[in-house]
Amino acid sequence: MIHSYLSARPAWAEINLDHIAHNVSQFRQQIGPMTQIMAVVKADGYGHGAVKVAEKALQSGASSLAVAFVEEAIDLRMAGIDAPILLLGYTDPAHFPNLVHYKLTPTVFGLDTALKLSALAVENNIIIPLHLKVDTGMGRIGLLPDEASEVAARTTRLPGLKIEGVFTHLAAAEDSDETYTNEQLLLFERIIETCRERGVAFPLVHAANSAAAINHFSAHYNLVRLGLAMYGCYPSSELRNKGINLLTALTFKSRIVLVKKVPAGTAISYGCTFRTDKDSLIATIPVGYADGYSRLLSNKGSVLIRGCRAPVVGTVCMDHLMVDVSHIPAVRLNDEVVLYGRQGENEFTIEEAAEKVGTINYELLCAIGKRVPRYYFQDGKLSSVKDFVRGANCFHG
Ligand SMILES: Cc1ncc(COP(=O)(O)O)c(C=O)c1O
Repeated sequence: MIHSYLSARPAWAEINLDHIAHNVSQFRQQIGPMTQIMAVVKADGYGHGAVKVAEKALQSGASSLAVAFVEEAIDLRMAGIDAPILLLGYTDPAHFPNLVHYKLTPTVFGLDTALKLSALAVENNIIIPLHLKVDTGMGRIGLLPDEASEVAARTTRLPGLKIEGVFTHLAAAEDSDETYTNEQLLLFERIIETCRERGVAFPLVHAANSAAAINHFSAHYNLVRLGLAMYGCYPSSELRNKGINLLTALTFKSRIVLVKKVPAGTAISYGCTFRTDKDSLIATIPVGYADGYSRLLSNKGSVLIRGCRAPVVGTVCMDHLMVDVSHIPAVRLNDEVVLYGRQGENEFTIEEAAEKVGTINYELLCAIGKRVPRYYFQDGKLSSVKDFVRGANCFHG
């Protein structure tokens, strides 16, 4: 199947859409019928491809989508997706006409924005839906607790606007110590109560990201915003045994383009940071930091070849990396390489890679570059390919 499509380079990411469906269904079953799922597909669906993930999530029980900003939402609309889309971040007033044209829902965290949106709505004789965001302890964006009810009360009286929801973002929902999360939730509920006393109604109330969706039932309210977990990754290892069984959707793959026998003492890659200590077999893989494979994995990462781990040796280059395959005797040119994911019985997880370089799975997923085509699998078959280099969506059903 996969041979029917020849990628620009032997480096690609396989996305299992059935796993996305499984992960959304897990939450659909666990969170109860009164709570909606908003699928977070910003950053091109955490590197998986926003359109395909959004379509699958909506078919599997999500009822709305979230992205960071307008351009990301426009991509979804251009692909024919008509579900509600919340813009989680700041929307520049220059983009307000796009809100109207593409029917997008902005996040409001200032009266100034509400006034401008109201003027636009009145001018166009339309109603603009919005969600208010309050900052209960993330310290990023949102109305501060002592201004929130005043802004909410004034916004709700502005013509042309409909407050559809109120939300906050949790800063430490993946921590086993729940103190901070509970404080944030308490403050959030107090703010909502004060707003209600001032006549503001919020049809949707939301706070939970993946970690809280897994572990904090009290944060579910009537909508959870599901990002990382939908892609099959856990926000922390402690959340693995909490009753939600996730399946990783992405496998990052390549092929060996050269195997060479080298004597002891051979330097490998820039800076000669690795020298073979014996006669060795070294394989070259055409993936580098320009593809999102972190240079920090130099002499630290591992890949899987023929079900065995092969350590990255030397510095990761822009377009290549080298691995020691001396212990894999049958290794040969063109062998499949798994950079993150499972091969046979063995697995090298993105979490392990992230730990080695001092970051989180989120960052490594988002970093997988546009030079890496995404191959989508559905019902065990290749269903489509997104090749950014060729600039085309290719279909090979
Ligand atoms: C406001 C907001 N909500 C929800 C999410 C989804 O979080 P997660 O990927 O942990 O589920 C994010 C992601 O960063 C976010 O910024």
